Amino acid sequence: MNWELGQKIIDKLRGCKHPDKKYDENTNNQLEYINYSKDSFYEVYKNHKDLYSCKWEQYLHVYDKYLNVFLKENKPVRLLEIGVSKGGSLEIWGEYLPKGSKIIGIDIDKKCAEYKYNNENIEVFIGSASDENFVEKNFENMNFDIIVDDGSHICSDVIKTFELFFPKLNNGGLYIVEDLHASYWKNYQGGYKKKQSSIEYFKNIIDALHFDYILKFNYKVSMSEIDRLKKLNREIASLAFYDSILVIEKYYNKYRPMKECKIGTDYSNPENPVKFENSQFERIFK
Ligand SMILES: C[S@@+](CC[C@H](N)C(=O)[O-])C[C@H]1O[C@@H](n2cnc3c(N)ncnc32)[C@H](O)[C@@H]1O
Repeated sequence: MNWELGQKIIDKLRGCKHPDKKYDENTNNQLEYINYSKDSFYEVYKNHKDLYSCKWEQYLHVYDKYLNVFLKENKPVRLLEIGVSKGGSLEIWGEYLPKGSKIIGIDIDKKCAEYKYNNENIEVFIGSASDENFVEKNFENMNFDIIVDDGSHICSDVIKTFELFFPKLNNGGLYIVEDLHASYWKNYQGGYKKKQSSIEYFKNIIDALHFDYILKFNYKVSMSEIDRLKKLNREIASLAFYDSILVIEKYYNKYRPMKECKIGTDYSNPENPVKFENSQFERIFK
């Protein structure tokens, strides 16, 4: 199938109406809206008035689902967004996140540093997020609670940027990659099941989540691979893949393999019930 035909089919499918929903006859907009609160990302994004931003619809819901924890804590956070473009998303982060949050943007386009942002806590750095020298020079001692990669979307950039910035994510923080669909596109160095694509890179990390269980058997794994898997295992708590957006959660505190938490009394041998009351419960996630 060629690109144009594929695009025509996608456009037709996009126009589909949900069989159970009501639509406005003139605008074709759905009449029933999701009941989000005023401070939700969905509502803040929808009501933003200043600089321009463009994000896919599903991202708004994903941000609500994952960032709500920072709103509940109501403490200022540090967010980094790679890819500023016309500046709107930085302003929206400032409107959404707890008061006093620091919003940092990186872009290769010098214009991004010249916009008049509606928030004095917004700061923009000009350079490439996948350039090691630029990153070390400007971000050596910086840490973030949330990192969003909405930069070039070229596979090698996405991977390099992750390797440079994930170590700068605080424990309990979130690393989010937008527009992962580009990893299937040839002009972004992507392809279907292509080894060097960014989606395959992230899929491979799933094995690291289970490193401690892999270790039980004598698989032929090199020492360097063991070190790599173990490091990722102690840091990466989850990878949640949605349509084109990936949310990676950093453990709050994981320094050993997981253990079972035993509690209550086991009566399977009535003559000798076993009581468990000393299980240690620790905080692992944010
Ligand atoms: C999709 S736009 C960002 C949109 C914006 N985040 C929003 O939500 O409205 C991508 C931006 O990434 C920038 N960019 C491209 N390559 C980059 C790189 N290597 N490092 C940082 N920014 C990059 C582009 O100049 C462009 O402004």
